[in-house]
Amino acid sequence: MKLLITTLSVVALAFTVQADLGDASKLPPAAKKTVDFDKDIKPIFEKSCVKCHSGEKPKGKYSMETKEGIMKEAVKGDSAKSELVHLAADLVVDSEMPPLDKRDKYPALTKDQIGLIRAWIDQGAK
Ligand code: HEC
Repeated sequence: MKLLITTLSVVALAFTVQADLGDASKLPPAAKKTVDFDKDIKPIFEKSCVKCHSGEKPKGKYSMETKEGIMKEAVKGDSAKSELVHLAADLVVDSEMPPLDKRDKYPALTKDQIGLIRAWIDQGAK
């Protein structure tokens, strides 16, 4: 019985950690070019994300105002394991970003935009 409980908690923990990632094989590929944060990345986040994810009470307690803030939901060097990429690519049902019902104001990211963000994370989020 003790072993069963241990096994169940390990499984539960694994689910908690994985909960906000979808099927990484469905992500658009990372862009091939060297990306520049200010030129390539910042405008995308400003248009589609930062209005909700900034200020004193950022939505989901997630502030995207600085690179450090953004990287709290990403894994430096590994965009395929980065939650923000999975959410922006609509791979996690009910956690799509921007939220589906707000897309008239905050446009969904295109595959190319997601590719740029992936490349930025993969290249070390500089
Ligand atoms: C209209 C407002 C709005 C916009 C625009 C928006 N979000 Fe969100 N975001 C939310 C809300 C609300 C939550 C919290 C959802 C929840 O807790 O269920 C959230 C949660 C998140 C989380 C999870 C945070 C956590 O602690 O797990 C991530 C990552 C995220 N958003 C990324 C993005 C990205 C990337 C964009 C732009 C592509 C974006 N969001 C655009 C409202 C927004």
